[in-house]
Amino acid sequence: MNALLIFLISVALLSGARNNRNMTLSEKIYNRMKTLFPDQKQGLLSGSILLSNVYSSLGKYEQAKNLRYHEKKELGVKVKIGLSWTEVYGELVRFKAHDHSHPRSSEIYAEFDRLSSILIKYNYKFDSTWITRQMNEEETIESVLCGHSEKLAIGFNLIQKPIPEFIQITKNLRVCGDCHEFTKLIAKFYQRNIIVRDANRIHHFYPNGQCSCQDHF
Ligand SMILES: *[C@@H]1O[C@H](CO)[C@@H](O)[C@H](O)[C@H]1NC(C)=O
Repeated sequence: MNALLIFLISVALLSGARNNRNMTLSEKIYNRMKTLFPDQKQGLLSGSILLSNVYSSLGKYEQAKNLRYHEKKELGVKVKIGLSWTEVYGELVRFKAHDHSHPRSSEIYAEFDRLSSILIKYNYKFDSTWITRQMNEEETIESVLCGHSEKLAIGFNLIQKPIPEFIQITKNLRVCGDCHEFTKLIAKFYQRNIIVRDANRIHHFYPNGQCSCQDHF
């Protein structure tokens, strides 16, 4: 089999193990990837971030931090920062996490405050296992997760009048599980189609609250 294909399958397996928070399996897959593909530095770095996510989802923040530090140093490549783009009524906007640079940022954050309280009433729970670092004292689970770039890009669509029928987002990294769950609810709540192209695939969120990936991502 083609080596690149095997590498991509390994990343998919690792991502599945991550979603199940299976530490032993994730370590095994990551170590196998390192042995088989020592030259795929950027891909290995993404793998090490998935593995460090497993550690932090189990509360092992020190181990997560050490792994990221060592792998970054050993592989000699930089972690890409997460960016999301969206185009709304002819305006192309880019967001990074916790971005406040857009002139309408305060409206976006206000919209999230409003939405969060509505969605929580519909049984939505912010999933803290997707927080990959220790939080500062002034942060809450909600404030960290609401700052993800894809949520901000979606929020930018939601403050438009009228809200676009098709919301389109592009993200340079993989979408996180919490954003995925959140987007499903937004699609249902607003009866919109939301397309998110991430580093891995295209997610089509339908007005019925389902995603085309059927939650395998
Ligand atoms: C992790 O995955 C392995 C292999 O599929 C399985 O045998 C094991 O029970 C899993 N562990 C946990 C904690 O889910």
